[in-house]
Amino acid sequence: MPVTDEAERLPGAGGDPAGERPDVPLGSLPGWREAAEAALYGPGGFYLRPEGPAGHFRTSVHASRLFAEAVARLLCGVDEALGHPAELAFVDMGAGRGELVHGVLAALPAEVAARARGYAVERAGVPQPLGAEGDREGGPGTGPGEGAGDPVAAAGAAAADVVWCATPPQGVTGLLFANEWLDNVPLDVVEADPDGVLRRVLVRPDGTEVLGGPLDEGPDARWLRRWWPGAARPGLRAEVGRPRDGAWAAAVGTLRAGYAVAADYGHLRASRPAHGTLTGFRAGREVPPVPDGSCDITAHVALDACAAAGAERASASAGAGRTGAARTPLGAGPAGPRLVTQRDALHALGVNGAHPPLTLATTDPAAYVRALAAASEAAELTATDGLGAFGWLLQPVGMPHPAALPEGTPLAVPPEDGARTAP
Ligand SMILES: C[S@@+](CC[C@H](N)C(=O)[O-])C[C@H]1O[C@@H](n2cnc3c(N)ncnc32)[C@H](O)[C@@H]1O
Repeated sequence: MPVTDEAERLPGAGGDPAGERPDVPLGSLPGWREAAEAALYGPGGFYLRPEGPAGHFRTSVHASRLFAEAVARLLCGVDEALGHPAELAFVDMGAGRGELVHGVLAALPAEVAARARGYAVERAGVPQPLGAEGDREGGPGTGPGEGAGDPVAAAGAAAADVVWCATPPQGVTGLLFANEWLDNVPLDVVEADPDGVLRRVLVRPDGTEVLGGPLDEGPDARWLRRWWPGAARPGLRAEVGRPRDGAWAAAVGTLRAGYAVAADYGHLRASRPAHGTLTGFRAGREVPPVPDGSCDITAHVALDACAAAGAERASASAGAGRTGAARTPLGAGPAGPRLVTQRDALHALGVNGAHPPLTLATTDPAAYVRALAAASEAAELTATDGLGAFGWLLQPVGMPHPAALPEGTPLAVPPEDGARTAP
């Protein structure tokens, strides 16, 4: 999106109301966090539209049932590590239409399924039965945030064994899985002006941007120094991931014991994208981000920053109630967070794109065709230039990592408030 440098005329965000367009006074323009919040989840917001996320983009969940089957195997590993609890939760965080939770429950062996309880956590509400789409917005119990904390029983299209809720259930034991959730947590964007001063980017409803006032010294500035060094070079942009870290930590903190996984496209501190990653998606195509409810607004995830926040919360949870219990240092130890690629994670969980033997084509042609289709779906889920390059952030809470999963990339955790001069 083109940026108009209005910084001279706008001494602070919310300051001088002078602007190019008299209909939208510059001083009243929101930053991207506020604008995306309203555009995605406010009245008429993108995620309240009847077609749901699958109408606009294809996640791993939509790509193949092999994904849910692999996550079901991971849930079995978590069950084993937890000693087969009487109730085993599967929490689908940012559930969309609940495709993952339903697929996981359906793929569980009977003995595990008998103890499993599925939760679909979705702030856009419970999907309506087919034919009731027109009633979705504003219908009882379907608005974002409605019933927060109070699980509402699923109706219509949603099966009875899944509990729909606006916020994750507290104190459960099991697996929390967030597929492409964190990239949709609204964030502010900053840009460095020609003098290297970081300014908040303000946005009009049509997506055009202006630079606001200098970023105050405060939590966002500290987050950027710690997690996005080099952001303050003239012309560069960064997304301020602090709200996302908080969202992940809060989700991790809902587990009494278990395992939390965030699967998303992301980046690490050593190689942040110089111009940020804010993007729009509409009807299967990448489009410029416009905060008017017509498209998704998404940004790649600073997975290492989320990892540190989640680890801190997990460590606090694991220490709670245990007098004098040693807390696991961030990013270290057998219960520290790990980052693996989706490709490696799925391979370890038994998904691979190997072609079936040609002999099967003559002995059982139908089985050969099915195996070929599965191999091609597995290849899509694990492609190094596609879904396979997603990161899986793995966070145990009061349990070790399940044995099946790979070691992954060690996560560097910089000190709380990095030095003012970026390395
Ligand atoms: C990109 S979609 C992913 C849907 C699904 N997980 C999948 O992989 O197909 C992100 C979903 O997260 C939901 N979401 C965003 N923030 C949320 C929050 N704080 N609590 C619950 N759901 C949220 C959105 O409404 C949206 O349905």
